[in-house]
Amino acid sequence: MEINSSTGMLGLLGYPLKHTLSPLIHNSFLRHYGLNMVYLPFEVRPEEIKQAVGGLKALSVRGFNVTIPYKERVISFLDEVSREVSFIGAVNTVVNNKGKYVGYNTDGRGFTRALTARGIKVKNKNILILGAGGAAKGIAFQLVKEGVQKICISNRTPARAEKLAENLADYSSSMYIDCIDFNEKELLKTVEDIDVIINTTSVGMHPHTKEAIVENPYFYHKNRVYCDIVYNPLKTRFLEYAEDAGAKTVNGLDMLLYQACYAFELWTGIYPDANLVEHKCKIALKP
Ligand code: ATR
Repeated sequence: MEINSSTGMLGLLGYPLKHTLSPLIHNSFLRHYGLNMVYLPFEVRPEEIKQAVGGLKALSVRGFNVTIPYKERVISFLDEVSREVSFIGAVNTVVNNKGKYVGYNTDGRGFTRALTARGIKVKNKNILILGAGGAAKGIAFQLVKEGVQKICISNRTPARAEKLAENLADYSSSMYIDCIDFNEKELLKTVEDIDVIINTTSVGMHPHTKEAIVENPYFYHKNRVYCDIVYNPLKTRFLEYAEDAGAKTVNGLDMLLYQACYAFELWTGIYPDANLVEHKCKIALKP
């Protein structure tokens, strides 16, 4: 589609944005569905984030994604947030609703959709979340909504894990939520009765590809599912260890694709086919 006087704008706010796949994903969807819009990366320095959001509004940008390090900070510059976001405290998608910027979070739904696409159900399962940052929050709330049995959270900074556990308990009083010390002994013990283990930290991300959040091989068991939100590299050291143990794995690209599908639906009303872009993303990620 040619850019013309009625071309709408979508984009991504973050810093830095060098390796983002979001423009590739959303522009492919826009072209496929014949929509007269473009999706642009907006790399904004931290001291200019407030002006940037005001500027996007002044330009009638129809919507944008938000990524590291602005998922939490952007909230104070929005007009409204969804009920979910008011619990999660992190936004990854903003929609321009008749001039008002409304914040949503599609990370959690994207994550569980990536699991169901692989035939993995979370209802009544025991989950271990490694990390307690913005990504962990979105995923944890969605898991509560989908009726998991138990969530254990383990984070390098324990206070963050405890805060997240408190917020989750406010959201659902009947859920079993536990904080685990971030040390090998505790993690090895905890993983015994866990079904799904999720790395929500950036450990293992390019260029630190030789690192895994837990190095001890006894942490990795078959008959478990190991998920990583890191998608560069596609197969992280964490997922390699899990595969070596004979476990099922879900990589970060699946989650990225499905959160993008839900964001695209919020902006356009069309839920796109993730398969349209998966191959392109894999090519773009090749070293
Ligand atoms: P995001 O919004 O992507 O989740 P974040 O809020 O900065 O980003 O959170 C990053 C998560 O990765 C945090 O849980 C962080 O632990 P701390 O709360 O202790 O900072 C975790 N993390 C990052 N690097 C880590 C490392 N080398 N070892 C263990 N955890 C790490």
